Amino acid sequence: MVGGPYYNVFLGRKDGLSSKFQIVDTSFPIPKMSLSQIISMFTDKNFSIQEMVALTGSHTIGFAHCKEFSNRLFQFSKNSEIDPTLNPRYAKGLRDLCVNYTKNPSMAAFNDVMTPGKFDNMYYLNLQRGLGLMSSDTAMWVDERTKPFVKLYADNQTKFFEDFARAMEKLSLYKVKTGRQGERSDFNFMPNEGLEAIM
Ligand code: HEM
Repeated sequence: MVGGPYYNVFLGRKDGLSSKFQIVDTSFPIPKMSLSQIISMFTDKNFSIQEMVALTGSHTIGFAHCKEFSNRLFQFSKNSEIDPTLNPRYAKGLRDLCVNYTKNPSMAAFNDVMTPGKFDNMYYLNLQRGLGLMSSDTAMWVDERTKPFVKLYADNQTKFFEDFARAMEKLSLYKVKTGRQGERSDFNFMPNEGLEAIM
């Protein structure tokens, strides 16, 4: 619907037998992590740095709440109120948006300020212009380990779409449960029961 590439969504990932919100925080990257920590989260799971950069191109849509990037806007450091890697006009707009975010925590900004509702390679072009929203986004352009891939995808949307699609398929198979692992609803399912319910 937003214009991204097609990729296969394989059928039938089974549910795990437990679900704990504490585990989410330890297995997902967050913007205040260093890029080295973020890279490790991906490479530990057998995703390459290039796959990480391609997947994070998802930040071409959606939004983030002010608390995820407010450290860049207010009292950033001793020398600078605002993160100097941010485009100054963009930073001013974000400051105006987030000025009351502690009182109003639902305030959020588009991840991609230029084409927020379109799945395209604008995320990578934005990074090169100081328009990355979270510090983890900007880091991808600043750091030499990720910069070549940001350049590649900024210059070539087709390549981004191909690599993104392949990496999403790989992600969907990550730790996939097979055989008797997970919720075995497939063993309990009786096709006739379903049909009776419809008829
Ligand atoms: C590289 C490290 C990453 C970090 C630090 C990160 C962090 C975040 C944060 C903090 C938000 C905002 C959440 C909120 O305020 O509600 C966000 C939004 C989002 N992220 Fe990431 N992310 C990363 C990589 C990824 C990857 C790999 C994907 C997809 C494969 C992804 C897809 C998205 C999407 C679609 C949104 C928008 C959600 C919405 O609009 O509700 N991100 N990300």
